[in-house]
Order: sequence, then C-alpha cells, then structure tokens
Amino acid sequence: MSVKKYLSKVAQNITPYQWEEEFSEKMLRFDTNTLPFPPPSLKLFLQEMESNCPINEYTDPSYKRLKKLIADYENVSEDMVTVTNSGDEAIDVLAKTFLDPGDYFITTPPTYEMFSIQCGINKGRNLQVTLIGKKFTVDEKRIIEESKKQRVKIIFLVNPNNPTASIISQRSIEKIIKNSDAVVVVDEVYREFYGKTAVPLLKKYENLVILRSFSKFAAMAGARIGYLVANPFLSIKFDAIRFPMGVSFLSYKLAEFVLEKDREWIKKQVQMIITERKRLTKGLISLGLSVYPSYANFLLVKIGEKASNIYKRLKEKGIIIRDRSNKKYLEGCVRITVRSPRENNLLLKTLKEIL
Ligand SMILES: Cc1ncc(COP(=O)(O)O)c(C=O)c1O
Repeated sequence: MSVKKYLSKVAQNITPYQWEEEFSEKMLRFDTNTLPFPPPSLKLFLQEMESNCPINEYTDPSYKRLKKLIADYENVSEDMVTVTNSGDEAIDVLAKTFLDPGDYFITTPPTYEMFSIQCGINKGRNLQVTLIGKKFTVDEKRIIEESKKQRVKIIFLVNPNNPTASIISQRSIEKIIKNSDAVVVVDEVYREFYGKTAVPLLKKYENLVILRSFSKFAAMAGARIGYLVANPFLSIKFDAIRFPMGVSFLSYKLAEFVLEKDREWIKKQVQMIITERKRLTKGLISLGLSVYPSYANFLLVKIGEKASNIYKRLKEKGIIIRDRSNKKYLEGCVRITVRSPRENNLLLKTLKEIL
C-alpha cells in the first residue's frame, strides 16, 4: 500500500491489542477481572436519565461533582484528583505528561501490558525490572539503580499486580519513592480486594501518583472511568493534558450515582469476592492445580503444558479464562477472575469434568 510510507515509526510497528475473539454474550467471562453484577444504582440512574439527560450539550468539563465525590472516597482534597476516560487513558495522560521522545519508563514484568503500549505510543523506551522469585517480589534495589540512569522519568508499580495477583509492601513502595530519581506511579486498580493504599504517602512525596479505575471496584468497566490522585501541581498538568471533554456525560453521571449511593454495596461485593477467592482457590487446589496467593479479584493458576488445551475446552463449554501460558514469565499459567458463588461453582464443575 502506497499510503504506508506516511506512517509514523510507531504506527509502522503497532498491531491492535489482543482481546478475546469470537465469543457470544451468553459466555461466562472469567477473563476480564470485572465484578459479576452491575451497581444497584444503575436503575435509578437510568430512570433519572429518562427525564433529565442533556446529551445535546457539552456538560461540565471539570467533572466538579465527581471530583468531589472521588476526593471524599480517597480522603484527599479535590485539587488532587484528575478524572480520565478509563485507567488506560490515565496511563496515556501520564506518558504525555512525563515523557519526551526517547525517555525511559520502568515496568516490572510480568505486569499489565498497557504501560509499555501507551508509553511506547508516546515514544518512550521501556526498561524492564522483572519481578523476582515465586512470590513475584519487586526488585526494589534494581529499580532504584535503574531510575538513576539518564532520562528515566516514570516507574510503574502495580499493587496488587495484574496478572500475578501479588503485592508490594508499603515499606518497599516508600523506599522506591524516596530513593529513586523518577515519578513513581502506583496502579491501585485492584486496591479494594487487598485493602492497603499508598495514598497517605502523597503528603510526604511529590514524585508519587496513584492510578485508579472504576472498572473493577465499582463494577463499571463498560462506562470507562478512571482517575489519578497526585499533588495539586501535577493534577493541573494532568487536567491540561487529558481531553477537555474526554469523559462521556453518561459515564461520569453514573460514577456520581455509584459513589453517592452504592458505597455499602461495593464493600459487600468486595467481601463476597474475597470469600469466594478463598473458596475458589481451595476448589482449584483440590482439582490438583497450583494457585498463586491472590490479593486481587483474580487468580493466577499454574496448569503447565495442558494450559492452552484446558482454555480451549472451557471455551467450547461457554467459559472464557485468560490464557497467559505462552507469555514470558507466565509459562503454563492462566488467569481466572473470581466471580459469584454460582458462577464459580459452574467453573469448578466444568473444570472437574475436563480434567
Ligand atoms: C493493573 C491495571 N491497571 C489499569 C487497568 C485499566 O482499567 P480500565 O482501562 O478499564 O479503567 C487494568 C485493567 O484491566 C488493570 O488490570
């Protein structure tokens, strides 16, 4: 194609992100780390939208009310919050804020792939500091060393990490923030399933940013809302760099409803998932599988050579898990979302038949 010659270097080399293909809506999704039920205030929200939905207008581009609710949820001031169109957009905003072409960012594989994808699109270069040992521990010493090299701007830590479901101690996080020469982003998208946060460290360190999403804890993956929590100076920069009208009115309104009305429900859902996490872990172990300790709403399960085959057999029976068995550092592994008791039972029963 002659148009090829106009492509940027990034566009020449890029291919679309690999989502699960060919599945019907009837299939059970154990592959996306989402919650099994939509938030209860969705009904009220839809009723309200029926009578009062100014979709013909550009509505509040500052997301003032949502910011206030998020600030209250996070126990920070409003000027420390930036609302984004998903956690993934938040990563893009971070890349645009900190990276000039050729600057470095540090990731800790195996981890969420969108850091290297979004920062790569923004012409950053990836330094990888692999997690170590069976517990997938963060190599703090090497991260600190690497950060001191020239042009390293961002360190991405994920707590709990996807796909390993492992954690970083608060002590380790603080050590990295204190001793490294870069902005430390702590992705806490799965925080609620673990219970600890680095947010209080924002008072002490200006090189810290917390990345969040409504996709998991608020059961709103389809609405695409994320946010960043950082000091007011950085928050003004993030706000300037994000799309001025990047978040749909429908999405931010729903997020407001959920934070106003569903906070108790969220707590109960998280508790249900934690209880199910224990039960599903036991169930999988009793089937002879090896399950890594999990602090998130999903499990990393080592199956070995048969992993891909089991993934395919489950899919034939209407259940999708995330096959990671061909990925570096995750050989023989699959990732399984913890869902409702009924769904988890169905997964265990189906797996038992297959095995
Ligand atoms: C670790 C981590 N960070 C960020 C995200 C982005 O979430 P979203 O774009 O749905 O807000 C995900 C999604 O799976 C994730 O696993």
